[in-house]
Amino acid sequence: MIVKTDKEREGMRAASRVVKAALDAAEKFIKPGVTTSEIDAVVEQTIRSLGATPSTKGFEGYPNASCVSVNDVVVHGIPSLQTVKDGDIVSVDITALLNGYQGDAARTFPVGNISDADKKLIDTAQAAFFAGMEYVKAGNRVGDVSSAVQLYTELHGYGVVRALTGHGIGHKMHEPPEVPNFGKKHTGAPLRAGLCICVEPMITAGDWRVFIERDGWTVRTADRSRAAHYENTVIVTDGAPEILTL
Ligand code: MF3
Ligand code: CO
Ligand code: CO
Repeated sequence: MIVKTDKEREGMRAASRVVKAALDAAEKFIKPGVTTSEIDAVVEQTIRSLGATPSTKGFEGYPNASCVSVNDVVVHGIPSLQTVKDGDIVSVDITALLNGYQGDAARTFPVGNISDADKKLIDTAQAAFFAGMEYVKAGNRVGDVSSAVQLYTELHGYGVVRALTGHGIGHKMHEPPEVPNFGKKHTGAPLRAGLCICVEPMITAGDWRVFIERDGWTVRTADRSRAAHYENTVIVTDGAPEILTL
């Protein structure tokens, strides 16, 4: 586990600001009729216009600057000619590299008018993240965060995906420790001030089970229930966490 220096933390903040700008650009652009490739193009242009590069492009062979996941796709949706329609929900996950530092964040956006059930699903993913934030503090352990995310999600009747986790972040997109969205209090790696992590609840309206499609990337719910994703890059401190991608 790698604790960041002051200089490194400044680098993480700058990279995170790029990611946030790209998420904002995607949110503004998303409307019924646009393709997921067009969303990805807006993300890539925003990242590059700010002097950064999209970290996912070429990462383990992933082809694009963002992951764009529609409805029952949980994460890692590959941008394509698929258009998003009124009533869809679309998760956009962006990682950018600036001056050697990574920022990583995701949101689920509504397309046009969405159902109350989908609104609640999206809000619960965000609320589960903040339930986890209550435990992101030096001296606590990863399992404290994981269990808070899980308890909040399941208490509200949603499934929490287990196949994918949050993670440490720094010069690399994925660093130790893993930060699962389920687990037990008082277990796992200890959190230390200066550690940088991504906390990223992936929740479903139904069962938590998922499968990977034949493209090797697209993660879809097994029961085809809809899913939402909410992720931020966060610095652990002795007090409240510093959330870099808000
Ligand atoms: N941004 C994702 C995460 O939150 C990782 C995407 S890797 C990709 O960890 F290859 F699928 F883009
Ligand atoms: Co991400
Ligand atoms: Co992440």
